[in-house]
Amino acid sequence: EQLKKGGYDTFMLKEIFEQPETLTDCIRGRITDDCRRIVLSGVIENKERFVHANRIVIVACGTSWHAALIGKRVIQEMCGISVEVEYASEFRYSSPFITKDDVVIAISQSGETADTLAAIQLARSKGAFVYGICNVVGASIPRSTDSGTYIHVGPEIGVASTKAFTGQVTVLTLLALCVGQMRGTVEEATVERIAQELKNMPIYIKEVLRLDDQIKNLSKIYTYARNFLYLGRGYNYPTALEGALKLKEISYIHAEGYPAAEMKHGPIALVDSEMPTVVIAPTDSLYDKIISNVRQVKARGGTVVAIITKGNDAIKEIADHCLEVPDVPECLTPLVVSVPLQLLAYYIAINKDRNVDQPRNLAKSVTVE
Ligand code: G6P
Repeated sequence: EQLKKGGYDTFMLKEIFEQPETLTDCIRGRITDDCRRIVLSGVIENKERFVHANRIVIVACGTSWHAALIGKRVIQEMCGISVEVEYASEFRYSSPFITKDDVVIAISQSGETADTLAAIQLARSKGAFVYGICNVVGASIPRSTDSGTYIHVGPEIGVASTKAFTGQVTVLTLLALCVGQMRGTVEEATVERIAQELKNMPIYIKEVLRLDDQIKNLSKIYTYARNFLYLGRGYNYPTALEGALKLKEISYIHAEGYPAAEMKHGPIALVDSEMPTVVIAPTDSLYDKIISNVRQVKARGGTVVAIITKGNDAIKEIADHCLEVPDVPECLTPLVVSVPLQLLAYYIAINKDRNVDQPRNLAKSVTVE
């Protein structure tokens, strides 16, 4: 087992550190050399279904559901199509209005989640075209969908999902670009720029992994907090949810992810010196707005850990601690910010002596309802 961990203390840490390689594998063969075309064969072979789709509905559970929320945004942006995201467990009992003109995308690392499988069967019974995004080759979900794409990030052993999440977000971005090209809704220059930056992503992730020591030190300050708030907006509202989920899963500290602007409708009442707030604030189109949220937390005596774009010094004057990530196109920010969130949860859990690979009460794949 020690050998399988490749010199790391835990599978989870190994899987976090593997992400430059797993993203390389995930992208391999899917972007042409000139970065002008996205080659997702499952999408290309089913061009008509995607081009004429009325709507896309994404179903998933857990971390895969967070990836789905990011996918919704990038698909809407690139493809000019309405996308809905549902928990598979809710979808299956919601009498969903699904027609043969809908495309249903099911996301699952394991490919065995019972609720997601049931959602797929329901969607297919209504005539929808069902597309899977899975990791485990040959699992039940890829076998029960019409077509799909594997994320190819290799076996994920740690119960808390890390490299599968970044793989799912990567495939969803590729899918959005590929479908957008087919539908003629995305500019060629946009495809080229994002494809190029996706190819650079392993280098960016390596850079982010160098925050390891800084995050390890930072984690000591926050190990004994009893509650955490995670805030983000736009593309990073889902990463706030995912950051909070990672912390809950492995450290057993209560954490809540929230869209930053909604803070004033409730969570702000909880802010005090005892509850740290993690703010995901890359320099994007919503940056100015999120800075005002940071100020609101500080004004109420809260402490703020901010994840920011490298070189943004203004925010350093307001936040207590800043973790700097590389500057990437807005739709790719979830990839670079999720790695420090994984590491922060990881080290806090280690400081508390938790079994991070097999947290209590959780299973890697949930094959019962
Ligand atoms: C379990 C795992 C999570 C995972 C979720 C969905 O709760 O512990 O890490 O995100 O199931 O699993 P799936 O395999 O469908 O992505």
